[in-house]
Amino acid sequence: MYSPENVGARFLADWIAGQKPREPKTGDASTFDRNLEKALDAKRESKSLVTRIKAIWKMGDGIDFSSNDMLSLGSSGKIRAAFLNELARNPDFLLYAGGSRLMDGNYDYVEDTEQMIADFHKAETGLIMNSGYNANLAIYSSLPLADDVIVYDELVHMSTFDGMDLSAAKAKVAFRHNDIESLRQTLRSILDTYPRIRDASNSVLISVESVYSVDGDVCPLQELVAVAREVCVKGNFAFIVDEAHATGVIGPKGSGLVNSLGMEEDVAIRLHTCGKALASSGAIILGNSTVRAALLNYAHPITYTTAPPFYSVAGMRAGYGLLSSGATQDSQNRVQHLVKHFFQAITANPIWTKASGMGILFIPVMGEAWENKKMYTHIVPAWTRQEYTWWLLFHLLLARISAQPVEYPSAPKGKSRIRIIFHAANEEKQVEHLAGTLCDFAKEMIEIEESGEIGRVPRAAQQVYALMQGTA
Ligand SMILES: Cc1ncc(COP(=O)(O)O)c(C=O)c1O
Repeated sequence: MYSPENVGARFLADWIAGQKPREPKTGDASTFDRNLEKALDAKRESKSLVTRIKAIWKMGDGIDFSSNDMLSLGSSGKIRAAFLNELARNPDFLLYAGGSRLMDGNYDYVEDTEQMIADFHKAETGLIMNSGYNANLAIYSSLPLADDVIVYDELVHMSTFDGMDLSAAKAKVAFRHNDIESLRQTLRSILDTYPRIRDASNSVLISVESVYSVDGDVCPLQELVAVAREVCVKGNFAFIVDEAHATGVIGPKGSGLVNSLGMEEDVAIRLHTCGKALASSGAIILGNSTVRAALLNYAHPITYTTAPPFYSVAGMRAGYGLLSSGATQDSQNRVQHLVKHFFQAITANPIWTKASGMGILFIPVMGEAWENKKMYTHIVPAWTRQEYTWWLLFHLLLARISAQPVEYPSAPKGKSRIRIIFHAANEEKQVEHLAGTLCDFAKEMIEIEESGEIGRVPRAAQQVYALMQGTA
């Protein structure tokens, strides 16, 4: 039953309290506020209101399988130490930036840092942004020209969709996720439809991510580039690769997928972010000097905002200093080891074969040949039957495991899953606890299904429902 000491139960109690409708209680609130509460009630009723509850690992004894601190640079204090070093090296820093990059906001430190990061990634130039979200708005709002066409993987991040909404491109066409044949067909039909693309007066911009934040799978970049070459024989295509989830965790010294494949010349634009494995914030767009000049002059998220401030750039530089010195290599290897350890632990559990065969617990990103994979990623979504997804989340939280559900619109409709993220600082026994907890859930659900008892819900869900009714 509900125990106030259990961080998962406390989290759920707060979350449940946040889902209660408010509009009927707004009293004499203004029409504006009442209508907003009504709009929020629609989310509360679907039990999907986002609230500002602290993740359970931050409340004490919960285990972090959810944050983006993949290299554990944040939790270990390593990024703080590197940041403080950076401040000490620059005792005269100014918090004042002076305006946008095109006005008084440009300064030597930001330009030096851009070049340092560009050199690390073997790119010609870099342009620092306040965040990856703004970087995608900048890229898509300014680089595709009116008669260009954007082709994008259907699972790209929301920031890319929002950027594309601002773009002047003639058309934006999705291809099926990581599907080489679908890209081929999409490009062919674009060539058939748009004469300016066919005669190479304009370009196709192809947007992909190196590691997908929803599925944790890796983009088959070499094959996609080969298809673009085969179909767009005149070479009028440009790849944009968002490396947000690869930065720090994939490739030599965490430099990302493009560097690991030696494809720097095949990709026109890369985006690296520092808010995830590098445990600070900010982002950098890599490309040639033409791309940089176009961004600086035409992208409103650059021209109409204050230049990235010193402290943010110093955080980025601190992170990149750790990467380039090789100080993060052990953490990068450790994430690989832990993910493999998790696959070993879960497949060794006696219930795994039956549970995965029945579709009660499965992990698509694992694939069949997981033992021989050269590379794992830190994102491992766990799937159950759609109607059990929240029950699985309750089960994990009550076992003090912090994990996040990924639902529409972050995942396609009807494809909710629980996203698990591995960190260098996770212990092997925590990983085994995770695998065991997932399998315990599967075992319980199999028993329920085989019992034929209609309406029987698993133990964790019973506790949560009791909490909802105030009877726990
Ligand atoms: C693929 C991708 N691109 C861009 C972003 C946005 O980055 P930031 O958090 O720096 O705004 C994210 C963050 O979730 C992401 O996963």
